[in-house]
Amino acid sequence: MPQSSSPIGVFDSGVGGLSVLRMLLAAMPNERFVYLADSANAPYGERGDAFVAARTHAITQYLREKHDIKALVVACNTATAAAIHEVRSSHPDLPLVGLEPAIKPALAATKTGHVGVIGTRGTLSSAKFGKLMASLADQAHFVVQPCDGLAHAVERSVTLPPTTASNAVNCTETGALCERYVHAMGPFGTAAGQMDTLVLGCTHYIFVEHELRALVGPDVRFIETGEPVARQTRRLLEAAGLLRQTQQDGGGEPQAPTDAAPPVQLLTTGPVSMLEAAAQRWLQLPARCCSTVSVP
Ligand code: DGL
Repeated sequence: MPQSSSPIGVFDSGVGGLSVLRMLLAAMPNERFVYLADSANAPYGERGDAFVAARTHAITQYLREKHDIKALVVACNTATAAAIHEVRSSHPDLPLVGLEPAIKPALAATKTGHVGVIGTRGTLSSAKFGKLMASLADQAHFVVQPCDGLAHAVERSVTLPPTTASNAVNCTETGALCERYVHAMGPFGTAAGQMDTLVLGCTHYIFVEHELRALVGPDVRFIETGEPVARQTRRLLEAAGLLRQTQQDGGGEPQAPTDAAPPVQLLTTGPVSMLEAAAQRWLQLPARCCSTVSVP
């Protein structure tokens, strides 16, 4: 039975969900986290719903059995679209947070009324996304662009030198893919008829924001979901009485860890070197936080 000292589980098809973990850590620095990257099976976006749903179930079960997680954040839009309803009904006692492309915040942000949405094919062709769009389609002009291969390229890019604003587009695989998809979408900018808002509907895409920024210009607003997801996770834990108290909350001294487990454990079904590089680059976490696991 999970306690408030139990870890929060976070999972993604690969390293993309580290962008969400970063926000979770910022919002709840006193919590323990177990992050699972299913990199052996990434990308999910072009795999089909049945495969993604089966992986989501297996990983949820694994995190509950082996790590006694007190809540789960599905830090993957594709897995949320394919399986969140089923996971919710098979684990009704587990506080669960999923991700979906932040269309409503984008509607609130746009001034031109033209909004771009990028995500995986799996997310953007899902019934869940279709329903969301159908309910909001008359409120703005949406350009929806699946970015086949981009999440996979982000996974591969982790062990290469980091991109900067100056080398972003011209010499990397991720840069070339961003260029292809952004150009296919039409004009970005703040003039009438241009897209002034871009929804990053895949957790991997935050890690190509330099590339995207170089292509769409400085004034386009990027909308991602990490921060609201962290707030929602905190709310759910609070409501369930499972939040670890912090000094700020009036709970006295931060709780000492109840066992030797490190505050952040990063697990991968793929090559550990990739996760180590990503953890170091994006979260400044040392390699000793990372290990390989098998989740059949
Ligand atoms: N990071 C995932 C998402 O948010 C999936 C990327 C992939 O594996 O295709 O959709």
